[in-house]
Amino acid sequence: MAEKFDVTVIGSGPGGYVAAIRAAQLGMKVAVVEKWPTYGGTCLNIGCIPSKALLHASEMFEEAGHSFKQLGIDVGTPKLDLPQMMKHKDDTVASNVGGIDYLFKKNKITGFQGTGKVVGAGKVSVTPESGDASEIETRNIIIASGSVPASLPGIEIDEQQIVSSTGAIALDKVPDQLVVIGAGVIGLELGSVWARLGAKVTVVEYLDRILPGMDSEVARNFQRMLQKQNMTFHLSSKVTGIDRGEDGQLAVNIEPAKGGDAQALPADVALVAIGRKPYTDGLGLEDAGVALDERGRVRVDRHYQTSVEGVYAIGDVIAGPMLAHKAEDEGIAVAELLAGQAGHVNYGAIPSVVYTNPEVASVGKTEDELKAEGIDYKTGKFPFTANGRAKAMLATQGFVKILADVETDRVLGAHIIGKNAGEMIHELVTLMEFSGASEDLARTTHAHPTLSEAVREAALALGDGAIHI
Ligand code: FAD
Ligand code: NAI
Repeated sequence: MAEKFDVTVIGSGPGGYVAAIRAAQLGMKVAVVEKWPTYGGTCLNIGCIPSKALLHASEMFEEAGHSFKQLGIDVGTPKLDLPQMMKHKDDTVASNVGGIDYLFKKNKITGFQGTGKVVGAGKVSVTPESGDASEIETRNIIIASGSVPASLPGIEIDEQQIVSSTGAIALDKVPDQLVVIGAGVIGLELGSVWARLGAKVTVVEYLDRILPGMDSEVARNFQRMLQKQNMTFHLSSKVTGIDRGEDGQLAVNIEPAKGGDAQALPADVALVAIGRKPYTDGLGLEDAGVALDERGRVRVDRHYQTSVEGVYAIGDVIAGPMLAHKAEDEGIAVAELLAGQAGHVNYGAIPSVVYTNPEVASVGKTEDELKAEGIDYKTGKFPFTANGRAKAMLATQGFVKILADVETDRVLGAHIIGKNAGEMIHELVTLMEFSGASEDLARTTHAHPTLSEAVREAALALGDGAIHI
């Protein structure tokens, strides 16, 4: 008789692989079905990890050309070795996806390569690239099939010249002119990579601001910083099409979102980064009776169960921010729930980071949200220009902003723009997890000299006042 699994996970991205590992740790017999040749999903193969390898390398390249001199390091004019930079990215990916192989073996998780389909409660079919389909018997199914780039009608992505993030992390030469469509996280991160390596980057955004969803004061400041890095913005603009000239050059046609004169932006490469959509192709959800919501996401209840008993879903394919750590935490929660424990994700304290230079990091409510919700809040701010370590590091751009309830002093949100903001945000995430007040943070000793002292100073600013400003 075929072996029966306690849990079968479809998809091995951060949601799927983490759910599988936690379920195995909790004593369950686990299978994972993955259609790509390597584990790790979007994040490890074509998302978080390769993009951060290129962000780091391009940041070093830029620093070598600019701030090194001021630090007394004369390396001459740095020379770009793009194939080596791409090799560093590929090596980083290989090492990370190899890590998942190791963890699966360590946790005795059985891998199946092929496209997984939900045949019904308790049954998953696996169709490999070549060869016959097989069927897995399983008590529970977790769908973790992730997301894919959204496309613009009439614009075909060839991943060479008109690219999604997947093509943009694998260009074989630096484009002279890169037009980025969408001033969201992907557009600004990958736009920064190519701008640092020498491309002239123009960003077209439909809305009247960059990074919708982020605190608008932070976004305004950030846009100014990116403009100083030679990125040009066309806000409130829509792309009506892309023409390809006989010489192979692209012309990205834009016009004001509310109508008006059109203009054509020349480009060697156009990056379409207008969001991602849930991916459910080939899963057989309709036949299995698994309901989707109006935006094509798998509908789940509080315990991640879909409309079919015994079938669960997590990560980018369900509602919520499309972030790797949100998917991971849902993976842990669903495994714990299946083991009869109280798995839970606090959606009010999920950090979000844009890994540019400076970084932008945020958790909890933005000022815009607090205003809209009519919540009485107070603001504590501290600039990195007044932080000793930031001066020593030539990293004085940006500030920390903490928002707290006027009556209770409970921290409701925090927003940091500055070097290492993505690391610093975590003390605020922890504080919010414990429903902490700004005074708790203000009374916590911070090592000197650190950038994190700016976080404490912002908290002090909410009370009797910051010391160093
Ligand atoms: P995915 O990672 O998308 O994994 C889904 C997996 O399911 C894939 O391996 C796919 O092959 C497989 N699959 C799908 N259908 C089937 C099927 N029927 N059978 C078998 N297998 C199937 N998030 C962050 O938090 N930080 C970042 O820095 C960050 N950077 C990003 C950079 C880029 C360029 C992109 C594109 C995304 C980035 N993200 C980042 C978002 C992050 O990648 C996603 O939120 C995360 O990968 C979602 O995890 P997931 O497990 O839900 O799905
Ligand atoms: P996004 O949702 O962050 O940004 C898309 C942008 O495109 C928005 O500003 C939107 O207004 C704009 N837009 C939409 N349609 C448009 C149009 N027709 N013309 C011009 N602009 C248009 O989506 P993005 O950047 O594609 O990223 C997808 C997901 O991946 C995000 O949800 C993000 O969470 C995740 N991601 C996370 C990263 C991180 O955590 N550092 C890094 C990269 C991606």
